[in-house]
Amino acid sequence: MRNLALVMGSYHTGSCTPTITKMSMLSLIFLLVGVASGQLSSTFYETSCPNALSTIKSAVNSAVSKEARMGAFLLRIQFHDCFVNGCDASVLLDDTPNFTGEKTADPNAKSLRGFDVIDTIKSQLERICPKVVSCADIIAVAARDSIVALGGPAYKVPLGRRDSTTASLSAANSNIPAPTLNLTGLITAFSNKGFTAKDLVALSGSHTIGLARCTNFRARLYNETNINASFATSLKPSCPTSGGDNNLYPLDVTSPTTFNNAYFRNLVNQRGLLHSDQQLFSGGSTDAQVNAYVSNTAAFRADFANAMKKMGNLSPLTGTNGQIRTDCRKVN
Ligand code: HEM
Ligand SMILES: *[C@@H]1O[C@H](CO)[C@@H](O)[C@H](O)[C@H]1NC(C)=O
Ligand SMILES: *[C@@H]1O[C@H](CO)[C@@H](O)[C@H](O)[C@H]1NC(C)=O
Ligand SMILES: *[C@@H]1O[C@H](CO)[C@@H](O)[C@H](O)[C@H]1NC(C)=O
Ligand SMILES: *[C@@H]1O[C@H](CO)[C@@H](O)[C@H](O)[C@H]1NC(C)=O
Repeated sequence: MRNLALVMGSYHTGSCTPTITKMSMLSLIFLLVGVASGQLSSTFYETSCPNALSTIKSAVNSAVSKEARMGAFLLRIQFHDCFVNGCDASVLLDDTPNFTGEKTADPNAKSLRGFDVIDTIKSQLERICPKVVSCADIIAVAARDSIVALGGPAYKVPLGRRDSTTASLSAANSNIPAPTLNLTGLITAFSNKGFTAKDLVALSGSHTIGLARCTNFRARLYNETNINASFATSLKPSCPTSGGDNNLYPLDVTSPTTFNNAYFRNLVNQRGLLHSDQQLFSGGSTDAQVNAYVSNTAAFRADFANAMKKMGNLSPLTGTNGQIRTDCRKVN
C-alpha cells in the first residue's frame, strides 16, 4: 500500500494532467480502503503530528536513563494491553467508583508500572497536536523505544490505533498467561492470540530485562528439580518459604538491564527464574528454538522484532472506532 503510493507519487512530476488526476483518485481510493480495512501505517502521523515519534523517544530515553527498569515496564505494558481485547490502551484506564479497569487484575496489580511516563508523553503530545495521537500508539512506540534504549532491535511501528472506551478485568485475568503454566498451557495461550511456539520463545526473550517478585518464583526455588542447585540456594535468602513476597530478583540474572540473548543461555543452564521461563527449555518441543537463540543473536533479534510488530497488530481499533483519549487514564 505504502509502496504503491510511492510509485504513484513519482507520476506526479509528469505533465499529463488527466493521468495525474486519475492517479491521485486511485491513491485516495487505496487510502480509504486501507483505513476502512483497519490497516496501520508507520507514516500515520507524518502530517498530523510530525514530531510525535521524536517526542515519545526523548521521553522514553530520559525515563530509562533515570531508571533502566522503566524500559521493562513500558515493554510489558504493550503485552498486557494487546493480549486483552487488542492494542487499545484499555490497560491504562484507572478504576473509578463506576468503572472497573484492568489495573487490579492478577497479572497487573502490584506489578505493572510506567503509567506516569505514558501520562508525561500524552500531555506533551496534547500540547503539540491535541487529540491526534492515541494512547494505544504511545504504548506501541514507547515499547519499541524502550527495547532500543536497552540495546534491543529497532523496528518500524505501524500506527493509527485508537483508544477503547471499555476495559475487561476478567479478560486480563484469563488472557495474560500465568507463570505457573506448563509448556502446553503457554503454547495454547499464545496460539489463542495467533502466535506460534516460535513467537512464544522469541517474545519470552523480553525477560532479558526487568525483575520479578518472590511470590512468582518461590515454588520454583523450593519445589522444582530442573533448576541449578547453586542458583536456587543463592536465591533462597531473598525469597524465603514464607514472607518477602514482594522481594525482587532479575529475570535475567546475567545482564538484567541489557536487551540481549543471555536469557536463553540461562535457560540452558537451568537458571530460568520463573517456572514458565524454564518450561521453554525442559525437554519439550521448544528446546531447539532456545538453543537456536543461544547460538544466533541476530535470529533472536529479527524474530523478536517481527513478533513485537505482530503483537502490536492485535485487533486495533481504527478508522472511526474508539476515540483518541486526551487523558490516557480515562475515557473522554
Ligand atoms: C510467556 C508468558 C509470560 C509469562 C507467564 C510472563 C510472566 C511474567 C511475570 C510473572 C513477571 C514478573 C511480574 C512480577 O513479579 O511483578 C513478568 C515480568 C516481565 N515480563 Fe513477562 N511473562 C510472559 C511473557 C512476556 C512477554 C511476551 C513480554 C513482552 C513482550 C513480557 C515482558 C515482561 C517484562 C519486561 C517483565 C519485567 C517487568 C518488571 O521489571 O517489573 N513478558 N512476566
Ligand atoms: C462516573 O462517575 C464519575 C465521578 O467519579 C462521573 O463524573 C461520571 O459521570 C460517572 N459516569 C457514569 C457513566 O455514570
Ligand atoms: C499442563 O497443564 C495442564 C493444566 O494444568 C494439564 O492438564 C496438563 O496435563 C499439563 N501437561 C503436561 C505435559 O504436564
Ligand atoms: C511445594 O509443594 C508442596 C506439595 O505440593 C506444597 O504443599 C508446598 O506449598 C510447595 N511449596 C512452595 C514453596 O510452593
Ligand atoms: C550449577 O551452576 C554452577 C555454576 O554456578 C556449576 O558449577 C554447576 O555445575 C551447575 N550445576 C549443574 C547440576 O549443572
